[in-house]
Amino acid sequence: MALDLTGVRNPLHGQFWVRPMAEIEDDLAAIRSVGLVFIEEPKPDPGVPLPQGPGGWFVSSQEQIREISKSAEVYSSARGVTAIDSPPEFNEFFGSMISMDDPRHARLRGLVSPGFTPRMLKKLEQSVDVQAKVIIDEIAERGECDFVLDVAARLPLQIVCDLMGIPQSEVDMVFDNTNIILGAGDPEFVAPEDDIIGAILSAGGELAALMTEVAQSKEGKNDDDLTTILVNAEVDGERLSHAEVASFFILLVVAGNETTRNAISWGLTYLTENPDQRAIWQDDFEGVAQTAVEEIVRLASPVSYMRRSALIDTTLGGQRIREGDKLFLNYLSANRDESVYEDPYVFDVLRDPNPHLGFGGPGPHFCLGAHLARREITVMFRQLFNRLPDIRASGEPVQLASSFIHGIKHLPATFSPAR
Ligand code: HEM
Repeated sequence: MALDLTGVRNPLHGQFWVRPMAEIEDDLAAIRSVGLVFIEEPKPDPGVPLPQGPGGWFVSSQEQIREISKSAEVYSSARGVTAIDSPPEFNEFFGSMISMDDPRHARLRGLVSPGFTPRMLKKLEQSVDVQAKVIIDEIAERGECDFVLDVAARLPLQIVCDLMGIPQSEVDMVFDNTNIILGAGDPEFVAPEDDIIGAILSAGGELAALMTEVAQSKEGKNDDDLTTILVNAEVDGERLSHAEVASFFILLVVAGNETTRNAISWGLTYLTENPDQRAIWQDDFEGVAQTAVEEIVRLASPVSYMRRSALIDTTLGGQRIREGDKLFLNYLSANRDESVYEDPYVFDVLRDPNPHLGFGGPGPHFCLGAHLARREITVMFRQLFNRLPDIRASGEPVQLASSFIHGIKHLPATFSPAR
C-alpha cells in the first residue's frame, strides 16, 4: 500500500510532531519499512516570503544515516542543515560551523575545541552542579512546577552563558531570543500573522550584538571563559573575527540549549511512565547513570533531523541521488530502527550496547557538546533524585510544533515539597 505522506502525515510538517507519540512512531516505522522515500517540503506558512522548496529524501535507517554522515565530501552541510533554504541574510548570524564543510569547518572546529576538553568540562561540572542546586532550591517548597520552564530549560542555558562569559543580567534575554529562533514555527513563540523571518533575524541580531560586546570586553584579558580563549586564540596565524565568535555563540545557545532541555524533559516523562526503570536507576544512581543517560538521548532524539545536500550524482541504497538533492537524516526514526534494536520502543535504562545517533552520525559534525550534555543530564537527575525523590510528570507533555527539534514546551510536575 502506498504511504500517505501528505499534510500532517509528512514528517517535515510541524503538526506531524504534536500528535501522540505512538502515532508518530507508527508513521515512522511505516516509512522505515519502505526505505528511502522522497517527501515534499510543506508550503511555508502564510506571510513567510520563501518559495516552497523542492523536497528531498527522508532517510530513516541507521545504516544510511551512518553512510551519509561519514561521506561529508559527497553529502554537504554547507547548503543548509534544515529543510528550508534559508534566505541569504541568515548566514550572518546562523552561518557557523554546523553549516560549513571542511576545510572551513575544520578550521573553526579546531579553534573552538579547546573549550570542550576534559579539563574545561571538569571545571564546568562544578558550575553545572551549583546551578542545578540553585534551580531546585527555587521550586523545592512549591510541590509543583512547569518542569520545562522551571527546571529543564534553565540549566543548559545558564551553562552555555557561563561557558561564554555572558553577564547574568542578560541570561533572560538570551532565553527569549533562542525560543524565537527555534520555536518560530510554533504559534506560542511567533504568531503566524507575524513576520517570522523578521522575528528570527532580529533575535539573531540581538544575540550577535550582545556577543560582540562581550567579545570586545575580553580582548587581551586572561579570563577563563571560552570567549576569552576564542578572541585571543591564534591557529596558523589566524584569529576569529568578532562576527565569527558571535555566530558561534548563536550556534551554541541554539545547539546546546534546546537539545539538552528537551533531553531532560523527555527524561522525566520516560521515568514517570516507567516506574520500574526509575527504581533501577534510583537504587544505584552512579552505577546506572551512564546507560540511563544514553537511553534518554536515544528515545528523546532532541534533534529530529539534520539535512545534507548531495554535491554529486550518486546512489544510496540502490536509489539514484542527483547533485543538489536534499536528504533529511531523521535521527529519531533511526534511533527506533528495528534492524538495530530488538525492542526499540522500550525505555531500558540498562540498555547496552546502545549505538544511537542522538548526537549525530559518525563524521566531522558529530556533536561537539555531547560530553557536556551527558554531564548536564546526569547532574540534573542526581540532584532531582536527591532533593525531590518522588518528582513525576503529572500531565501530558505539550509538544513543540517543529519537525527539527523534538521538543516539549510545558510539562506539569508534582513532588513532595522539600526545604
Ligand atoms: C542532548 C543534547 C544534545 C543533542 C541531542 C545534540 C545533538 C546534536 C546533533 C544531532 C548535531 C549535528 C550532527 C551533524 O550534523 O551531523 C550536533 C552538533 C553540534 N552540537 Fe550538539 N547536541 C546536544 C548538546 C549540545 C551541547 C550542550 C552543545 C554545546 C554547548 C552542543 C554543541 C554542538 C555543536 C557546536 C555542534 C556542531 C558541530 C560541528 O558542526 O562540527 N550540543 N549536536
